[in-house]
Amino acid sequence: AATRYEAESAAASCVGTIDANWSGFSGTGFCNANNAVGAHVQFTVNAASAGTATLGIRFANGGTTARQAHVLVDGVAVQSVSFEPTGSWSTWMTKTVTVSVSAGDHTVRLSPAASTGLPNIDYLDFGLGGGLPGSFQ
Ligand code: GCU
Ligand code: CA
Repeated sequence: AATRYEAESAAASCVGTIDANWSGFSGTGFCNANNAVGAHVQFTVNAASAGTATLGIRFANGGTTARQAHVLVDGVAVQSVSFEPTGSWSTWMTKTVTVSVSAGDHTVRLSPAASTGLPNIDYLDFGLGGGLPGSFQ
């Protein structure tokens, strides 16, 4: 099973605004990061043990081009991810990536690779193990 970290909750930070104007999000809102380099969303997650963790990133991209982002764990870039257009800002999809973690707390930051910024980010699912926990969509 994975733990869900909502972008609007205290264990996360959003360089932008927490919005709720597009439907279909989980919880009470989503992170609309500023459309700028450096405008990140960051989650603090806890790993009960060391291992391979699967990140499920729920996002919406109502634009017409993919938005690229770097995934940083504890400040170190470990992955790049492409958030393709989802068709509308109310259509949400989940991207999964795997990262290695030690036991304990870690920051997971999504940092846009270009000034088009991030897509809207709803939550991060964090689960130990290389497979896809049942909560992933
Ligand atoms: C629109 C949309 C926002 C989105 C933004 C963007 O303004 O309403 O939710 O974040 O486009 O292009 O990033
Ligand atoms: Ca935005």
